[in-house]
Amino acid sequence: MDDICLVHQAFSCLDWDDIDTSYNMFGKNISMPLVINAMTGGSDQLTAINRGLAKAAKAAGVAMAVGSQSLGLKEQASQKSFMVTREENPDGVIIANVSAISPVEDVVRAVDMINADAVQLHLNLPQELSMEEGDRNFSNLCRRVTETVNTIGVPVIVKEVGFGISKETAMKLAQTGVYWLDLGGKGGTNFAAIEAKRFAQGMGNVFVDWGITTVCSLLEVKSTNIPYKIFASGGIRSGLDIAKALVLGADAVGVAGPFLKALLNGTYQTVIEQIMKYENELKTAMLLTGSASLEQLAEKPWVISGNSREWCRGRGVELSCLRSQKV
Ligand SMILES: Cc1cc2nc3c(=O)[nH]c(=O)nc-3n(C[C@H](O)[C@H](O)[C@H](O)COP(=O)(O)O)c2cc1C
Repeated sequence: MDDICLVHQAFSCLDWDDIDTSYNMFGKNISMPLVINAMTGGSDQLTAINRGLAKAAKAAGVAMAVGSQSLGLKEQASQKSFMVTREENPDGVIIANVSAISPVEDVVRAVDMINADAVQLHLNLPQELSMEEGDRNFSNLCRRVTETVNTIGVPVIVKEVGFGISKETAMKLAQTGVYWLDLGGKGGTNFAAIEAKRFAQGMGNVFVDWGITTVCSLLEVKSTNIPYKIFASGGIRSGLDIAKALVLGADAVGVAGPFLKALLNGTYQTVIEQIMKYENELKTAMLLTGSASLEQLAEKPWVISGNSREWCRGRGVELSCLRSQKV
């Protein structure tokens, strides 16, 4: 995100109180286009974590995705750790999460378990390959995602977990009929590094730099002109990062690691404070770019430099910032 600069507008004639960050996600109004992204669930200790994150999501008025529900699908006892999110936040936006390789019956059960507003199908190939116990057979992926997208009654989001989505992948995914992507780009939580530490006999640090950054992934996917709705995630660490992602063309953003750290080092109130800080920073960026609404923010000019610019050149990604834009 440091490679992106939004352009300061000194004569921004706006009232802070008129700046509107609200967003409609899956038919429900939330305070800003933010999801506490998928992290956990499956045991008693994790029930407390999900309860804390759900309380924070409700109080701050943002969306939340639960972590992979695979354990909840296997063991009845594990389901509580996911269901607690709906108990805490009966009217909020809650998103289910399963592996993209899951059969459609499992996806339906995961959605029903928490009365989810949408479901994330996660793609985590580098993580699986770096885990001793990880999957090695991904040959059913395309068929399974297509079946789910065409069968299930809630919006489906195909989600990476920290390695990004390329333009080729975006084009291939379009054949499944999926409409929402969560880019999960490189730059934040790094599962290749985590697994390298966890599994000493594995691939070590060889793949710790693997992947496409969130900025480059966003620009790659936008360059396909496929009308995806996009969550930018992976390394979003401030309200300014949120503003940058929205200016680059994301519809919403996801943040995971920082909220878990805030909860573990404090209480659910600490998570609320972190979200309010992001909201304040987003509003500041909006005022300084002369944007009273998210629609206006999306039209603002931006500049790209450094490795991101080099990547886009090398990949033939057209940069819309080089065309004239409204101020
Ligand atoms: C502790 C932890 C557990 C995670 N578990 C899942 C998961 O079960 N399913 C999933 O789709 N993503 C999972 N993720 C990935 C996040 O949803 C997110 O895509 C990734 O961490 C990048 O965002 P960040 O840099 O804001 O952390 C997990 C992340 C963390 C930190």
